[in-house]
Amino acid sequence: MASSKPLEDLAQKVANSTKIVSEHLSSHNLPQPSFDVGAPLQWPKLPADVFEARNELRDASKKLHDLANGPRNVLTWLCWSWAHTASLQWINHFKIADAIPLDRVLSYAEIAKTASVDEGFLRRLLRLAITIDIFCEPRPSMVAHTAQSSLLRDPVYADMVGWNLEQGWRWSTYTVEAYEKWGADMITQGNRTPFNAAEKTDKGLFEFYSQPGKEKETVQFGNLMKAYGDTEGFGLELYVYGYDWGALGEATVVDVGAGHGQISCAIAREFPQLKLIVQDLPKVIAQAESMCPQDLKDRVTFQAHDFFEPQSVHGADVYMFKAVLHDWSDDLAIKLLQNVTAAMKPGSRILIVDGVAYDPGTFKQHEERALKTVEMIVMSCLASSEREVDQFKQLIHDSDSRLRIKNIVKPQGAFNSIIEIVFEG
Ligand SMILES: C[S@@+](CC[C@H](N)C(=O)[O-])C[C@H]1O[C@@H](n2cnc3c(N)ncnc32)[C@H](O)[C@@H]1O
Repeated sequence: MASSKPLEDLAQKVANSTKIVSEHLSSHNLPQPSFDVGAPLQWPKLPADVFEARNELRDASKKLHDLANGPRNVLTWLCWSWAHTASLQWINHFKIADAIPLDRVLSYAEIAKTASVDEGFLRRLLRLAITIDIFCEPRPSMVAHTAQSSLLRDPVYADMVGWNLEQGWRWSTYTVEAYEKWGADMITQGNRTPFNAAEKTDKGLFEFYSQPGKEKETVQFGNLMKAYGDTEGFGLELYVYGYDWGALGEATVVDVGAGHGQISCAIAREFPQLKLIVQDLPKVIAQAESMCPQDLKDRVTFQAHDFFEPQSVHGADVYMFKAVLHDWSDDLAIKLLQNVTAAMKPGSRILIVDGVAYDPGTFKQHEERALKTVEMIVMSCLASSEREVDQFKQLIHDSDSRLRIKNIVKPQGAFNSIIEIVFEG
C-alpha cells in the first residue's frame, strides 16, 4: 500500500542510511564525499551492511528528488538533459579542462585564450556545466575545477566522454530510423543498428573500426572499455576476486575478445601461477601489447585472433568472454562458443562475464537501471542484448551438448554475473 507520507518516509530512509555511511567514513578516517578537486573519485570498499546502506541512500534520494520535482518536471527535464550532453561534448572536444590547471582559478578570457575558443561561447557552455558541478565559479567570472571536471584531464575519461558523445549518443539518435528501416532485424543482424543508419554503412562496428583512418575512434573505444572496467559495479576487481582463480593452480586462461587486456593483467598480478593469453583483432592487440606492464609480459601474451575463426589455442584451462557475448545475436554468439568448444579438453571451462537480465524489482533500482542502460548503449551499435538465465541456458545447449553450466555467480557489488561452463568432453 502506498505510504500516506511518502516524502517523509523517503527522507527518513535517506537520513538513516546517510548516518550509517557517514559514521563509517568518520570512524575509519576515510574522506567524506565532496565535489572539490582532490576528493576521492570513487567510493572505498565498504563492509556489506554499509554498502547496502549506501545503495539505499542512492535509490531513496533519487526517488525523493523525483517526487519533490513532480512528474511533469521529471519528464521534461529528463528530455532536456541532452543540453548537458551537448555542452559536455563541446567542452571535452575543445579540451577546456586541460586549459585550467587543477590548482588555479582562471577568468573566462584566460581559458578562452589558452583553449583557442570564443570567450562568449565558452562562458555560456561552461555556465551550464557548472550547474551540474562540472567546474565551479568560486568568484564571479572566475572558473576552477571540481572533482568531476578534473576527470576530463585524464585521457581515458576524455575518450570515454568522446566515445559516448561523439559516437554512441549520435548513433542512438537514429534508433527510430533504424527500427523503421529494419525492425526486429536490429537485434539479429549485426549491421542493422542505429550506428549503421547513422554512418550509412553495411559494415559491423568492429569491421568499421578496422578500416584505415579510424585510429582515433578505435582508441576511444578501447578507453571506453577501460573506463567501463573502472566503473562501480563493472569494476575489474569484482571479477578478479569474484571467481576462484587460485583453485585453477597452474593454468592457462585465454581472454577472447579481450580489448586492451586489463582484466587479464589484473588477474595475472594477483595469481602468479596463471598464464594469460590476450586475444583480439590485430589493431587492438597492437595497442594492448604496448599497455601491458613490463613485469607481467612473461605471463601475459598477446595474439591477434578473429574469434569467428577456429580457436588457435587448444587445451587451455579457461576461455573467457568478458563483455563479448552481449555484443552478438544468438547465432553469432553460438558460433563464438562453438569455436572455443572445438579447442577445449575435458574439464576445461568457459567463463562468460556479462549482465544477466532479471525481472524488474529483483535488485536495487539503480543496479537495474545500470544494466538496462548498458544494454541500450550496446544496442546503438551492435545486435546485442543482455540475456536472461533461461536464454543463456538455451544458448549453451544450442552451442554444444557437452557444455554444462556449473555455476552462475553475481559477485557482491557487481552488476554483471560470471557464468561458469564446463566441457564434459
Ligand atoms: C565490448 S569489448 C570487450 C573487451 C573486453 N573483453 C573488456 O571486457 O573490456 C568487445 C571486444 O571484442 C573485440 N572483437 C570484436 N570483433 C572481434 C573479432 N572478430 N575477433 C576478436 N575480437 C573481436 C573488440 O575489438 C573488443 O575489444
